Amino acid sequence: MASGNIIKPVRGMRDLLPADVSVFQRLESACTELAASYGYSPIRFPIVESLDLFQRTIGQATDIVSKEMYTFLDGDNALALRPEGTAVAVRMAINESLLHNQKQRLWYMGPMFRHERPQKGRYRQFHQFGIEAFGFQHPAIDAEVIAMGHRLWEILGLSGEIQLTLNTLGDTASRVAYKEALQAYFSRYTNDLDSATQERLATNPLRVLDSKDPQVRRLIAEAPVLTDYLNHASQTAFETVLQYLSDLGVPYQPDPYLVRGLDYYNDTVFEWVTDTLGAQGTVCAGGRYDGLVAQLGGQDTPGVGFAMGLERLVLMMQAQAEVIYRDCDVFVVVLGEEAISSALGMSEALRTAIPGCRVKVSLDCAAMKRQLKRADQSGARFAVVIGESELAENRYTLKWLRASTAQRTLSQSELIAVLKEEENNGVRL
Ligand code: HAM
Repeated sequence: MASGNIIKPVRGMRDLLPADVSVFQRLESACTELAASYGYSPIRFPIVESLDLFQRTIGQATDIVSKEMYTFLDGDNALALRPEGTAVAVRMAINESLLHNQKQRLWYMGPMFRHERPQKGRYRQFHQFGIEAFGFQHPAIDAEVIAMGHRLWEILGLSGEIQLTLNTLGDTASRVAYKEALQAYFSRYTNDLDSATQERLATNPLRVLDSKDPQVRRLIAEAPVLTDYLNHASQTAFETVLQYLSDLGVPYQPDPYLVRGLDYYNDTVFEWVTDTLGAQGTVCAGGRYDGLVAQLGGQDTPGVGFAMGLERLVLMMQAQAEVIYRDCDVFVVVLGEEAISSALGMSEALRTAIPGCRVKVSLDCAAMKRQLKRADQSGARFAVVIGESELAENRYTLKWLRASTAQRTLSQSELIAVLKEEENNGVRL
């Protein structure tokens, strides 16, 4: 077939090979265990939702809603591929009556979709691990949620490379006053602002603080800070969060200009950032969204949570250590048609006797040398050979592929005993 006819993945969407998947799986189990260790319960929700859900929560003037969503019509229904999980978790909590005088600590993991310009660490289909805590007014929950991130970086060996920045956005009244102050300040420099910044200033002035334009950044350095517009309650809550973080030994950097790309936040917002990934350095972000449940028609309930980008963390894990991918632990070399039945039976016995042992049976009937080469390439630590003589004696030849131990010919029960002993001695099977 001509190469022009070959179908490639959609731009920004990726295929993952087994070696990549194995790192994702390590990260996913670390996230699952982390959530459980803080008393969070798993939820799952659809990938397709009403477009309206995201428009009403994330905000019409945000980048996500105004230009990054995958939307389509299903009959008369305007639908969207979910670009994030918070709005969906809130919708689900209301629909499933999870919030009636109850507190909830929930987590989810899965693909999200945003039509952004793809680059390293930024994809159009990416994966998030997210947590959402509902019903907690006290700022202790903000500290708990942040501590979870801190613990995960330690578990992954990444804590030296990820820093916490945080800010408080105050309540709605503080933000309205601050937005007006920002508009008044920047309106003095209209001629220095590009048209995109001018538009942002009109529709979503807080987002101007995110500008990468050096000229705008110089102006931001002199711009009013939100801290000066905060009400007393927000200020005290933020100080309490910072105190808890200090008590827990979680280092942080307050950033009075930190704003988020989604409109639903109030009070504490935070980002975990690394400078090892280039431009896409935010590996986890979140904050409080006390008005969101009521905004979607539920009983007024505070919320706080975060989501982390699994692809970005996987990139960091891969940069940290070379990943040796093993697609099995024991590779079974089968020499001849007659040996197949015995190979299949012995492999089943191994899987039963040693849970978690990954046994791969070679079924290509190639010469021994060729099969042993495949055994080596598989990353297996052991090969078990079954040929004519083994078959005649009802025994198996065990070869150590990653150690200089001499090969041994063993009965099935001896083979199992030797492999179990290897496992007990710390060889990962
Ligand atoms: P977000 O900041 O939009 O927040 O996304 C959270 C994280 O998802 C980012 O910090 C980044 O690691 C990852 N991410 C976002 N877009 C991409 C992309 N195109 N490619 C790869 N990774 C990406 C939220 O989604 C909120 N729902 C977080 C939250 C939960 N707030 C409260 N609860």
